[in-house]
Amino acid sequence: MFEQIERVPGDAILGLIEAFKKDTNPQKVDLGVGVYRDAQGNTPVMRAVKEAEALLLKNETTKTYIGSHGDPAYGEVILPLVLGEGSPVLEAGRASATQSPGGTGALRLAADFIATQLPGKDIWVSNPTWPNHLGIFPAAGLTLHKYPYVDAENRLDFDGMLSALKQIPEGDVVLLHACCHNPTGFDLSQAQWQQVLEVVKERGLLPLVDFAYQGFGEGLDEDAYGVRLLAENLDEMIVTSSCSKNFGIYCERTGCLIMVAKNAEQMENVRSQIAIVARENYSNPPAHGGSIVSEIMHSAELAALWREELTEMRDRINGLRRKFVEALKPYGLDQKYACVAEQRGMFSYTGLTPEQVDRLRDDYGIYMVRSGRANVAGFSDENLPYLAKAIAAVN
Ligand code: LMR
Repeated sequence: MFEQIERVPGDAILGLIEAFKKDTNPQKVDLGVGVYRDAQGNTPVMRAVKEAEALLLKNETTKTYIGSHGDPAYGEVILPLVLGEGSPVLEAGRASATQSPGGTGALRLAADFIATQLPGKDIWVSNPTWPNHLGIFPAAGLTLHKYPYVDAENRLDFDGMLSALKQIPEGDVVLLHACCHNPTGFDLSQAQWQQVLEVVKERGLLPLVDFAYQGFGEGLDEDAYGVRLLAENLDEMIVTSSCSKNFGIYCERTGCLIMVAKNAEQMENVRSQIAIVARENYSNPPAHGGSIVSEIMHSAELAALWREELTEMRDRINGLRRKFVEALKPYGLDQKYACVAEQRGMFSYTGLTPEQVDRLRDDYGIYMVRSGRANVAGFSDENLPYLAKAIAAVN
């Protein structure tokens, strides 16, 4: 039977890891997959994580299953991190946390929940969005549509977005990026979030907010503005959060599905369904990443260290954004790429075309997604002059 199986190209983002490894150019630069890199181009384990792991190794007494919702001690720290300390949503007991294998796992749980419990509801995602969104929701059987997000001049198209949201059929699901929009780096202002809230209310839409980069934009609380605004002003919403980037525990697959319901009673009903979805997908989530996060957040000292390290990463990325634009000045390209300094998070939609991206890869060993998305954390003081020269050459 397998003779009928067709070979398909590999994932466009993950494929870059392999292609970069194989490249023998000594000046090669990896601006591909979204992992943080330090000034040396490494993705080190955070100190708070190392210390938490040492404690876990010493104190862990069992490797037994942790249940379909995961470790309650993990949920206990993720809910206030995402929804805010003292959030009225938490006080009312209307939010539920389910530990998931990464943010991707949380997205698939959400997709399966919508497909099975809210039949007939379609999902709307920004154009562009993280390419895996385009796979996950249809894989669960949902019909996916797009709303505009970026205009032809590579600027946030908020008017286009808002008028499209106003046309979405009542009750459909709208996926929003909480912060550090992937792939563009264009985030909504607080005033724009308020407008989105009004439309979501008016149309009775169900927001699904993907929150994979908390702490990488402006700060842990600042980045949660939209999530908290919606949660506090709507009866129902879904949040998929990730600890991959902000704790740097990518391979530990540590995420969380947060379901917000009208009241505690309805939340428990929804929660019971999520347990089934998790059970049918993978039964129990992996424990280690959640234990790290919970160990850190339950210790005032480790939590302070973690916040400090996260601030360092965020400041470094935002500094590199400004330096990138500076580096392009001698080539007269600083205006053209000024958006890079304004965008937030790990990614920038540079405006480079797929052909330019191909030339950067083939002629200079510079790797990024063909959409023109660059991982800004891959910039460094050493490689910026080289990058600027290469970009000037393909312009
Ligand atoms: C990315 O967009 O590069 C990251 O979210 C990693 C991934 O899984 O694609």
